[in-house]
Amino acid sequence: MDSNPIIELLGRRLRLAVIGGGPGSFIGAMHRTAARLDDRYELVAGVLSSDAERAQAAGAAIGLDRVYGDAVGMLDAEAERADGADVVAIMTPNDSHHAYAIAALRRGFDVICDKPITNTLAEAREVQSEVEASGRVFCLTHNYTGYPMVRQARAMVEDGQLGTVQLVQVEYVQGGKAGERDPDLDGAPPWRYDPVRGGPSLVMGDIGTHAHNLVRYVAGIDVDEVAAEVGHIVANRLVDDYAGAMLRFDNGARGSFWVTQAAAGVENCLRLRVSGTEGTIEWMQETPTQLTFKPLGAPGQIRTPNGPGTLPLAARASRIVAGHPEGFHEGFANVYSDAAEAIASRRAGAAPDPLALHFPNADDGVRGVAFVEAAIRSSADGGAWTRVG
Ligand SMILES: NC(=O)c1ccc[n+]([C@@H]2O[C@H](COP(=O)([O-])OP(=O)(O)OC[C@H]3O[C@@H](n4cnc5c(N)ncnc54)[C@H](O)[C@@H]3O)[C@@H](O)[C@H]2O)c1
Repeated sequence: MDSNPIIELLGRRLRLAVIGGGPGSFIGAMHRTAARLDDRYELVAGVLSSDAERAQAAGAAIGLDRVYGDAVGMLDAEAERADGADVVAIMTPNDSHHAYAIAALRRGFDVICDKPITNTLAEAREVQSEVEASGRVFCLTHNYTGYPMVRQARAMVEDGQLGTVQLVQVEYVQGGKAGERDPDLDGAPPWRYDPVRGGPSLVMGDIGTHAHNLVRYVAGIDVDEVAAEVGHIVANRLVDDYAGAMLRFDNGARGSFWVTQAAAGVENCLRLRVSGTEGTIEWMQETPTQLTFKPLGAPGQIRTPNGPGTLPLAARASRIVAGHPEGFHEGFANVYSDAAEAIASRRAGAAPDPLALHFPNADDGVRGVAFVEAAIRSSADGGAWTRVG
């Protein structure tokens, strides 16, 4: 990436304010790094904790210019300033995404929000309506869509290299909650263990929405019906740590979905297989620079970032020459950088590069929450086939 399209369009970088991501948050630092990697944003303001004193300390610790003690106060103040933030990134516990996204959109900010978009389908639809009414850009950080080889997979499907998609398998298997002691329920549970704050299903909110989004993004088809079991593997746990499901897609394709955080020893195995009439692609997040392509009746091939056969959508997502690994940070940054192009184009009244419009949006968020709700309904109904949405 030699040029900076944001400076070309606006004469400056986008000004970013963040809500959440204070000490102890894994994803806060990822957002801030992703925003800076391609130099399209400058971080100008933030509120990094729900506690005003801790927010001041956390903002000062990362060298923020304008540190605020509460989110709505920050939105009001930044909206008033001539040099106020353009974009607000939300990385707080799930139950606050809805209120902060709507408050930011109503004050004229473009929004980047972590997943799940909200905890309920009704709230997700409200955010979607506000995005439409405001005309602002809304980017949902399903960051796995930003990996070069995920983009290559999507482009190969679109290019017809797999023929018609017929079968999809996705798994997102982690072990982080296999040996973990659950919190003492006599005290206030951490937000993830509280269904009001974390949402109706821990595993589905944490990683199920990522797996569902990845399938839709790569295969270019939607889940119409689901037959699911959602529950827990670790004894006496009150939140969900696994979900398994069969899927029926809108083009007639069939699929399977398997997500858990209770697989002892596994780290972060997000894996996808898409089979069409002409061949199959396979990708795994732990080896992200390799996309396997198995064409019907011909030897298998490996695609790599900027290697032979790279399609334009994947090429723009790779920063360095073939053979130099790129991973989580770069994939996250691709989502941020594409959103920046859409935001700057909107502000400059210019048409964005269509290839920049591959970041997940509010519609993807609504479909993700609809899928979670349908899977839970199906499971409660003994695994019956259940319509999504
Ligand atoms: N994209 C991904 O891969 C990914 C990975 C992890 C988490 N997430 C999402 O990011 C969000 C946060 O998860 P986490 O793991 O960082 O949680 P966390 O509990 O580790 O951190 C949350 C942070 O937000 C701050 N915070 C809470 N309420 C706030 C408020 N009202 N105003 C300002 N700051 C506030 C807390 O002080 C804390 O620093 C969740 O929605 C989660 O689903 C996404």
